[in-house]
Amino acid sequence: MSRRPTSLARRLADGGSVPFVESVQSKAHTSPLLSIGLLVVGAILLVGYLYSNSGGSSSYGEAVSKIGGGISCTQELLRAMPVLKKAYGDSMSKVLHVGPETCSVVSELLKEEDTEVWGMEPYDLDDSTAKCKSLVRKGIVRVADIKFPLPYKAKSFSLIMVSDALDYLSPRYLNKTLPELARVSSNGVVVFTGYPGQQRAKVAELSKFGRPAKLRSSSWWIRYFFQCKLEENESGTKKFEQASEKRSYKPACQVFHLKSLP
Ligand SMILES: *[C@@H]1O[C@H](CO)[C@@H](O)[C@H](O)[C@H]1NC(C)=O
Ligand SMILES: *[C@@H]1O[C@H](CO)[C@@H](O)[C@H](O)[C@H]1NC(C)=O
Repeated sequence: MSRRPTSLARRLADGGSVPFVESVQSKAHTSPLLSIGLLVVGAILLVGYLYSNSGGSSSYGEAVSKIGGGISCTQELLRAMPVLKKAYGDSMSKVLHVGPETCSVVSELLKEEDTEVWGMEPYDLDDSTAKCKSLVRKGIVRVADIKFPLPYKAKSFSLIMVSDALDYLSPRYLNKTLPELARVSSNGVVVFTGYPGQQRAKVAELSKFGRPAKLRSSSWWIRYFFQCKLEENESGTKKFEQASEKRSYKPACQVFHLKSLP
């Protein structure tokens, strides 16, 4: 139904705007009746789209990524795992997940036979389960401030997945953290971040994150990646979109595929 732009550059060209809103605006001065008609059509399309998003998408069923009324991109990443596996295959032999609730991602990936996995929790773990505590004890999950250089050698991991964590960093820190993620991985960095206007899970826990999440538009991120000289992994993007389509998966978060540093 909606066009799925395949490259970051094209998404930038779109400016992140919704196509039918644009067409309403451009026709507004021609005929009021026509614009009302277009608005009605737009509303119907929107309702249809929302409906297909919530109930229609077969195997993914309920929006499980919603926690306490907000979106958690870590939960969304878990939901996307089958699609990520399809897109990255062997590149997922040694995964590092970075983000809140990392224990849930690590536990899930530990079930995979040919995947080694580690987790980095950028915020504290006060409400962690016994299982999570045991992962920390074993050194599989660590709590580390991602504003500082990561304590790993170049290309220590094949794939790095980040969810939610970057939304809490200001550009000053992002400038250090993002290139670090590209440095310590060899087959790419997958970034899950919230859409602007999206309600976040755990809004009550501001003290934990230090600052409110800043949800940036896709054009902001694309410009940012470009500034930091990080390149889109077009093959990753393409494979992810193909696998999403096959499984009628529609991400509730923005997903970016970046190349590791050469
Ligand atoms: C981040 O890095 C880019 C490119 O190196 C630079 O242009 C920009 O000013 C930096 N931003 C901050 C807030 O340090
Ligand atoms: C790009 O993504 C593919 C998976 O689709 C992966 O195998 C490859 O290593 C990635 N390339 C880089 C440079 O990160």
